Amino acid sequence: MNFKALAEKYNTPLYVYNLDEMSKQYESLKSAFKGRKAILAYAVKANSNLSVVRHFAKLGAGADCVSIGEVRRAFLAGIPKYKIIFSGVGKADAEIREALESDILYINVESDGELQRVEMIAKELNKTARISVRVNPNIDPKTHPYISTGLHANKFGVDINTAKRMYIRAKNSEHLDPVGIHSHIGSQLTELDPIREASEIVADLVRSLQAIDINLKFFDIGGGLGIKYNNEVTIDPYEYGQAVLGTLTGLDITVIGEPGRYLTANAGYFLTKVMYEKSNDDKRFVIVDGAMNDLLRPSLYDAYHFVEAVDKEGEKTKADIVGPVCESGDFLAKDYELPALEHDDLIVVHSAGAYGFGMGSNYNTRGRSAEVAVEGGEDRLIRRRETFEDLIALEKEYLD
Ligand code: LLP
Repeated sequence: MNFKALAEKYNTPLYVYNLDEMSKQYESLKSAFKGRKAILAYAVKANSNLSVVRHFAKLGAGADCVSIGEVRRAFLAGIPKYKIIFSGVGKADAEIREALESDILYINVESDGELQRVEMIAKELNKTARISVRVNPNIDPKTHPYISTGLHANKFGVDINTAKRMYIRAKNSEHLDPVGIHSHIGSQLTELDPIREASEIVADLVRSLQAIDINLKFFDIGGGLGIKYNNEVTIDPYEYGQAVLGTLTGLDITVIGEPGRYLTANAGYFLTKVMYEKSNDDKRFVIVDGAMNDLLRPSLYDAYHFVEAVDKEGEKTKADIVGPVCESGDFLAKDYELPALEHDDLIVVHSAGAYGFGMGSNYNTRGRSAEVAVEGGEDRLIRRRETFEDLIALEKEYLD
């Protein structure tokens, strides 16, 4: 990819996504479930740009959404309603209502209280709500604590016994139709055992529900497949498929996966330009035009992203790559070996296609970067850079 030309054409800071790479990832995961009824419901939160979601729609993907905003994005992007799932620990009544009215595949319920709201709203609308229950299997996924979700100490889902009670309630309700079961133990998973264990626990629950005549159609394994940011040993998609499918013997059930990061992370790049270099005593700083408001992962999780200084060679020394935001926590990389850099040199932060742009903000009144897609060697703008006018648009009229 010609990063220099892209930076020249669209300016920096800039997100660039290789859609062909996303297709490749999609196909490799899809083929891991070959021979089985399976839907890959793309986790929209990973990268919710409409053109990215449309790309997955064209490949045949569904969508896993965590707000009604994401559901609307999925519809706009052309994902069929029968492949849209709505999850999340706290859905507002208006969101539940809209989800029911739009007739999506199912609402993934995360508490008993929520099940009651869904039932009540379905009744008001004179509908039957298709639901799944998110089960928290209490498995340690061995990932960063902020992105672990399958332990009872995490806020997600309900324990097995509560789930069972919820299914019985749903089965006995005129307005609820229990069609699926869901679990997602965490993100950036690099170990297969916790996934297999969780899947076994959930599959056992499916069997025990069958025994009381509750027959589920969808087995939703969530997302979480990890990627290489650095030198992680990642899970092979085929082995992932085999591990999950191995727990489902004897069950006639459609498998749903909700991959986000696996599909988009390594297809995305964050381009930023060097503004200045400076040293405070012997601490070296490279100040760039991108910041934590563009790419929050390093600041929030101390996450590592591979960094490339384009066309620069020479002796390397350690530096922190920092942005212009007024926070000491505003950095893109720490103690990173870099050659000497000058004004306007281009830095490319890799693996930025998931949880990059989407976790951005306007902190320090900084407009969000533009986003560009590259497909078949052609580049095109898929979100224009935010302007100052965009940033004040919702406040200006209230100025007295
Ligand atoms: N399904 C559910 C229910 C989820 O909660 C998530 C992610 C996914 C699917 C997609 O997971 P993935 O395949 O992308 O790992 N901001 C963090 C990641 C947060 C993940 C939240 N849930 C990061 O930048 O690492």
